[in-house]
Amino acid sequence: MMGTLTPVSPPTSESFHLSPPHPMPPAASNFIETRQLSMSYPLANSRVEVLREVNITIAAGTRVAIAGPSGSGKTSLLLLLSGLERPSSGQVLVDGVDLGKLDADGLADLRRERIGIVFQSFHLLPSLSALDNAALPLQMAGRRDARTLATAMLDRVGLGGRLDHLPSQLSGGEQQRVAIARALVHRPRLLLADEPTGNLDDHTAESVRELLFELNRELGTTLVLVTHDLDFAARCDRVLRLHDGQLHETPATPATVTRDALPA
Ligand SMILES: Nc1ncnc2c1ncn2[C@@H]1O[C@H](COP(=O)(O)OP(=O)(O)O)[C@@H](O)[C@H]1O
Ligand SMILES: [Mg+2]
Repeated sequence: MMGTLTPVSPPTSESFHLSPPHPMPPAASNFIETRQLSMSYPLANSRVEVLREVNITIAAGTRVAIAGPSGSGKTSLLLLLSGLERPSSGQVLVDGVDLGKLDADGLADLRRERIGIVFQSFHLLPSLSALDNAALPLQMAGRRDARTLATAMLDRVGLGGRLDHLPSQLSGGEQQRVAIARALVHRPRLLLADEPTGNLDDHTAESVRELLFELNRELGTTLVLVTHDLDFAARCDRVLRLHDGQLHETPATPATVTRDALPA
C-alpha cells in the first residue's frame, strides 16, 4: 500500500519573512523524473516513434504546461506519467516510485491515492450521474464522505445544479468540468490534465484555471497540463514543448503555445 496523502504545511510567519515571494518546495527536485523514456507504436510493418529518450525532472509543486503540435505525443506522455501506458523503453519515477516496478494493482493504488487525471475525452461512466462520477475515486477508496466531498467539488466547478444529470445530458464543457471534479476530489499530489480548458467558454475556463492553481497553492499539487491556452501557460512555472520526440524548455509566447492549436 502507498502512504496516505500528506498536504504541504502552510508557511509559518517565520518562513514567510525569510522566503522569497514564490518559494519552491524544498528538496524535491525530482518529484517526477523520466530516464531515457521512449515510446513507439506499431504502424504497418514499422513503428511510429513518439518519444525518444526523454529525460525530464519536475520538482514537487511545479506548474508545468506541455505544448506541441497535434500528434507530437502530448497525450502519450501523460499516459506514461500516470502508468496507464508502459514505455517502449526507459523509466518513469513519480514521487520516488519507479512505475516500471509496479504491477497493474500497484499502479491503480498509486493513481487512486496520489494522481488525478483529466482525459482529453473525459472518460466519464455513461450510466453514472455527475455526482457518482465525481465521487468514484473516493468511493473506490472506501470513503464514506465521498458524495459530500464530490458535491462540494462539483459546486466549485459550477455544476452544483447538475448533480443528477447523466453525462449524455450534459454539454461538452459540463462533462469536462465533471471530469475535472473527479480528478481533484481526492486532492491528489499530482494532477495530469489533457487540455482541461479546451471545451470551456472564457468565464468557465478562468474558474477552472483558478481552481487548479488554488489546489497547487493550498496542497502543493504538481500540475502537468497539456494546453494550447496561452493565458494558462503564461501562469505556469515552466512551458515544455514537444517536438520530434524531444521536450524543450521554452518561454510562454503565442508562438510556442498556441500556434499548433487546431479547431476542436
Ligand atoms: N494506441 C496507439 N496506437 C498507435 N498509434 C498511436 C496510439 N496512440 C497514439 N498513437 C500515435 O502516436 C502519435 C502521438 O499521439 P498523441 O500522444 O495522442 O499526440 P498528441 O496528444 O500530441 O496529439 C500520433 O501519431 C498517434 O497517431
Ligand atoms: Mg492529445
